[in-house]
Amino acid sequence: MDLQSTINQNSSEISNNTSLTNTSQTDQTEINQIESEQKKSWTIENSEKLYRILGWGNPYFSINSAGHITVSPKGDLGGSLDLYELVESIKQRNIGLPLIIRFSDILEDRIERLNACFSKAIARYKYKNIYRGVFPVKCNQNSQLVEEVVKFGKPHKFGLEAGSKPELLIAIATLNTTDALIICNGYKDREYIETAMLAQRLGKTPIIVIEQVEEVRLVIEASRKLNIKPVVGVRVKLSTKGIGRWAGTTGDRAKFGLNIPEIIQVVNQLKSAGILDSLQLLHFHVGSQISSISVIKDAIREASQIYVELAHLGANMKYLDVGGGLAVDYDGSKTNFYASKNYDMQNYANDIVAEVKEACEEKKVLPPILVSESGRAVASHQSVLVFDVLGVSQVPKAEPVVIGKDEHLILQNLYETYQSISKNNYQEAYHDAIQFKEESISLFNFGYLSISERAKVEQLYWDVFGKFKKY
Ligand SMILES: Cc1ncc(COP(=O)(O)O)c(C=O)c1O
Repeated sequence: MDLQSTINQNSSEISNNTSLTNTSQTDQTEINQIESEQKKSWTIENSEKLYRILGWGNPYFSINSAGHITVSPKGDLGGSLDLYELVESIKQRNIGLPLIIRFSDILEDRIERLNACFSKAIARYKYKNIYRGVFPVKCNQNSQLVEEVVKFGKPHKFGLEAGSKPELLIAIATLNTTDALIICNGYKDREYIETAMLAQRLGKTPIIVIEQVEEVRLVIEASRKLNIKPVVGVRVKLSTKGIGRWAGTTGDRAKFGLNIPEIIQVVNQLKSAGILDSLQLLHFHVGSQISSISVIKDAIREASQIYVELAHLGANMKYLDVGGGLAVDYDGSKTNFYASKNYDMQNYANDIVAEVKEACEEKKVLPPILVSESGRAVASHQSVLVFDVLGVSQVPKAEPVVIGKDEHLILQNLYETYQSISKNNYQEAYHDAIQFKEESISLFNFGYLSISERAKVEQLYWDVFGKFKKY
């Protein structure tokens, strides 16, 4: 939080990391010079670059001239506060760290932005329907946050997504916005389904999303028992695979949702029960934190085709729910790295609107109300965890490594790599050092390297990296 102390800490890491114990005199002098220049010239701008705060923090977090983090809760609308000073004043009230500070204005701004992006895209493409977002309660079940999502979302009829029975109860109790949707996802038993249907009588708009074929029978039975016509959706397992950490939970082998033959089975069962017109929504979710826009486009394209086909099969299609996935650029690199994203919120909304519009126009189907279930994009920025730095982990300092001719071959090889590092070969040396280190672990695991030899390998390995700092 206090960037000046981060800077100091960083400088000490620089000095520790470069403890080249077996370096020649000239090398050592040169390295000392570099270290002292790095220390002297370390600035707030260096910190900004290193931590990319303007990448991930924009427009809410920044650094001021004192080296403190500032928060602009209203984003571009102006006004900011010094987070360091805020924490100091909280501490004076005898409230200690760690602390979670929530900025409700940021939450409001995120909801406004999401809705504004869809409105802009709808206007740009002359899309003939509306956007109705929902917030997935599972992404942050804090009651103050859920209540604020409802409050700030009211002008946009922003709803809630429930992923379980308790979340459904939260949604029914909290969401008091007329016409805002309650998307009922997750595992469903009879109680869940009946509760969702009864919510209609309370003036809510629940949509029961079928994720397992068995749930259709429960829906049909509950509908007859309660004499309520439900609004039903189906969650499809798209062939389009996600990307990043959650890629494995998507595609043909995904745990959640129905494959195409199962969707046809659901259509037939609803038709036989005389309630095919209850089927109004298609939902998919190709994973969270989708870092690449091309994955989002592919998923929308596939889902749009399924949507129009369902309409042609006689379902009363009205909603297309694109799930979550809208990513947050945690590392600020604006790439498709899993902790980043190579698109912004407007690109996301534009691609959804444009793809759905094209598919519907081609197949002469009315365009759906677009629903999205953005969790992290809505709720990640609004809370800050502040804690004390209790310690710093550093590369271990050790005695100079002396490698004799009779030492283990792996040590001699790594030592040679270390000695021969130059401007021309440092990349090769980097790969060699990694390879020797991995080999040394295998040798150790099979009992061919003693613990003292392994210690020398590890020390030399860090020395190699210290030497790279020159280049
Ligand atoms: C069905 C469903 N919808 C929405 C989300 C929220 O995803 P995100 O946080 O990427 O917006 C999730 C999270 O995994 C989910 O499983």
